[in-house]
Formats: sequence, structure tokens, C-alpha cells
Amino acid sequence: MAKYNYDKKALKGLGVGAFLNETKLRASELAKGDNSIPTSIYNPNIVAAELHPDYQLVKVKEVIEHDGAKSFVLVADKDRGCKELAYFEAGKYVSVACEFDGKFMCRPYSICSAPKDALKQESTYTITVKKIDDGYVSDYILNNWKVGTEVAISGPLGHFNYERLRDAKNVVALAGGSGVTPFVAMAHSIVDNEEDYNLTILYGNRKYDNILLKDELEALAAKSDKVKVVHVLSDDEHEGCEHGFISAELIKKYGKDDYSIFVCGPKAMYKYEEEEIKKLNLPKRRVRFELSGEYGDPTKDEKYPKDIKDVTFNVRVWIRGEYKDITCKNGQTLLRAIEESGIRVTSDCRSGMCGWCHSRLIKGDTYIPESNDGRRLADKKFGWIHPCATYPLSDIEMEVFPSVK
Ligand code: FES
Repeated sequence: MAKYNYDKKALKGLGVGAFLNETKLRASELAKGDNSIPTSIYNPNIVAAELHPDYQLVKVKEVIEHDGAKSFVLVADKDRGCKELAYFEAGKYVSVACEFDGKFMCRPYSICSAPKDALKQESTYTITVKKIDDGYVSDYILNNWKVGTEVAISGPLGHFNYERLRDAKNVVALAGGSGVTPFVAMAHSIVDNEEDYNLTILYGNRKYDNILLKDELEALAAKSDKVKVVHVLSDDEHEGCEHGFISAELIKKYGKDDYSIFVCGPKAMYKYEEEEIKKLNLPKRRVRFELSGEYGDPTKDEKYPKDIKDVTFNVRVWIRGEYKDITCKNGQTLLRAIEESGIRVTSDCRSGMCGWCHSRLIKGDTYIPESNDGRRLADKKFGWIHPCATYPLSDIEMEVFPSVK
């Protein structure tokens, strides 16, 4: 077996103990491997493409109705050449492509089924779509998807998964509304012994009667003492539930000595939870916010220029050497304006983080919220933007790239 030389000083601060254990584990797994020279059949690119596909063709296998939401079980569409779905870590999302009204749009949805379901002979993911006010793509999905509907989705994406090198053994999950979905997948992976940590879900809802996926969550909690679900109701008092909002005191009550916090829910909840979490003085690495989905209204930000109101900007969009002139309203992302014009571009996270909508800004001023600026330093320096998290402050000229989906 190969002998490893560790520079322990350089690793200081990275949790050396845990890191060395991982290295030993990896070395022992490698030692079990075949020593023969790889042949041309062995191609890491093929493996990488299977594990991280750009897109996957699926169809709806089952529709499960809830109060104000539907879960869709998506199965690999063998008729269109998709043999199986990529395996995923609980907490990942897929970007769902929809084409209607002459527009092509993608929306991120967390996978809420067990990771092991992707490995079954009939490989499946489940996503849950909730009805929301002014929902456009969500309304389309809820009204049109039925058993047999053909869909294109991305591979599993995101970083909202448990990492044993980084996260504490106890996780307190703060969920609001349909933001509970990644935690349902996490609970499945713990119950199935695929991951080993303690998960306490503090699930905020207005009333007891409209808690999404309540039965599934309670069934999972009944199967493992590592999974606990606490309902926190703002408008209702109900036996066994907490009343009010998910406050710092409540988090402290259910967190053990050392814990990580994962947050997923509506953006309004994030503002409240950010303030509550600050009171707990946790190290930064212990707090994770799921950022897939749009930033929200930037015009309310302190840093957003106050003199820009009710303005519509002209945007010249170059694609494959040709251009189209479109408009973008104040407070609207460039990506939305591009999609509404019918130009077919790629997006996945829609929050500025994944880089899939990476585009070149040729001219113009923009506002990019700090929390959603996932660009690399070189991108910032050379004028690249992520239009899903970029708002125009003047007329714009830019270049985009066509969708692969
Ligand atoms: S879609 Fe992910 S950065 Fe724009």
C-alpha cells in the first residue's frame, strides 16, 4: 500500500484528525482495487459524464397530490436513451427545463426522495412543487404535468449537502414551506444508513393543517432516533408543536453542544433567520443557506441606487453572432428578461452560484447582490456576469450562450 507523507502544519485548521481518517479510508479502498493497466474501455470521462450529466431525459411516473402542492416521481426515460439517473447526495437539486408560451425556462427543485431510489433498476427522483402566488413555471407544471409527461432535467447540483469533514454531527435544519424538501431527502439517507448524523428539522408553517409532507416526515422520524421533526406554527397552537417563529432560543433548545445549521425556505424567512443565527455566534462554516432560486426584490436593498424607479432598460443580447434587442424592467434579472424574449439560454441555480448562465457584459452598469455574487475573481475583472443574479442599472449590451438542454 502506498505510504503518505502528511504536512501536518499545512493542514492545521482543516480538522486534521478527520482529514487523516478520510485519507486512510481512501487508501484502504484504493488498495482493494485492480492493479491491471486501464484499457481504452476505462474512460474517466465516461464515468464523469454518468455521475455529472449536463441533462437527463425523464418522464413523470406518478403524481402525488398534497394540499396546495404536488409531488412528481420522475423516472429515467429509457425510450429516449436515458438508462438510469445519476446518483446524488441528499440536499442536491435538479434544474427542470420547461418550454411554453414561446419561452424556454429552467427552475431548480430539490430532490426529496431517497438517494437510493436513483440506484434502483427503475431509477427515480421525486420533486415537490408548491403552488405560489404569481407562480409562472410552477403553475405550468402543476396544471400540465401528468403521468407520461416528458421532461429534461439537469444532473444533481448544489452544495447543500452534509459534509462530514466540515459539518458537526448534529444538524439543526430550519425549514419553511416547500423548503423542507432537501431535508426530507436527508432524513431518507439517514434512515437508509447512507449517512450518519443527527438531524433535527425545525419546520415553520402557519397552521398545522397545511404542513407539506407531514406524514412522510413523521414516518421517517419514527424509523430512526437520529431524525427528529419539530413543527413550529406561527398562527396556530397545537399539542406537541412549538408556537411562533424559529428563533435563536428555539434553535439553541434543539441544537446540542456542537451543531451545524442548514436553512431552506422562502427568502423572507432568510432575512429573519440571518438575524437570529447571528445571536448564536456560530463559526461561519457551521451555517449553510440553500441559495438555489431567485434573490428576490433588489430595490429594497440599502445598496441599491435610490434614484432608479419604474425604469425600463434597453438590452442588446448577442447570441451566436446575431443580436436581439429586448427590454428589462428595473428590479428584474437580466435572465428573466432574456427568457421572456424567447431567447433560449441555460440556467440552473438561478441564484448566481453555479455559473451555468455565465455571460459576457459588453456595456452597461449593473447591480449584483453581494450574497448572490458567485463569480470568480477573474470573471469580475474581465466583465463576466451571471444574469440570473444581475439587475440592470442602465441600458445593457451583453453576449449569452445557447442552452444545452
Ligand atoms: S443559473 Fe446558476 S449562476 Fe446563473
